[in-house]
Amino acid sequence: MRGDFYMEKLIVMDHPLIKHKITYIKDKSTGAKEFRELIKEVAMLMAYEVTRELPLKKVEIETPLTTTESEVISGKKLGIIPILRAGLGMVDGMLNLIPTAKVGHIGLYRDPETLEPVEYYCKLPTDVEERELIVIDPMLATGGSAKAAITFLKNRGAKNIKLVSILGCPEGVATIHKEHPDVDIYLGCLDEKLNDHGYILPGLGDAGDRLFGTK
Ligand code: URA
Repeated sequence: MRGDFYMEKLIVMDHPLIKHKITYIKDKSTGAKEFRELIKEVAMLMAYEVTRELPLKKVEIETPLTTTESEVISGKKLGIIPILRAGLGMVDGMLNLIPTAKVGHIGLYRDPETLEPVEYYCKLPTDVEERELIVIDPMLATGGSAKAAITFLKNRGAKNIKLVSILGCPEGVATIHKEHPDVDIYLGCLDEKLNDHGYILPGLGDAGDRLFGTK
């Protein structure tokens, strides 16, 4: 397997291009334009890994020289589900490699009193229960949003879900492993830990602010 390590259900990318690009993503001197481009590129490279097990079927084709049997992806239906808002930064990179995927959106905020995630927006492909879903969020920090988003998707019938984040930390991985042991987690990089404010260390700061130039 390709990961730095591949525990069952956790795949951490081990590719020089991904490591290189994540270094510049983390660097605070990288501006919003370059940051956005790098997030998109890493998402595209991760799409390559996430789709590794897609089933193939044989087809017969004619090359300019002869007839031959070859393979194409056998009609697996995919859905890409960005968690708003930072997940939006990964959509185009994923779609570059999986252009036929449908895109659904989930928006969550944390209730200031209960601290529980509350869904404020959800628009999904109608046949969500038939699709293999790829939930995307650049940061797997506490895991609270990803956990809630996956629960919402399961409540709507989704059965086959993967989670893809550019940076993660052990706390977030543990949350998803505990609550959703069936979900494969793909990380571009596994960072050290969370700080007291729920930010990943060393991290990259606030992914949404850096993508959209807010703050
Ligand atoms: N969300 C972010 O954008 N950054 C973190 O470090 C954690 C959560």
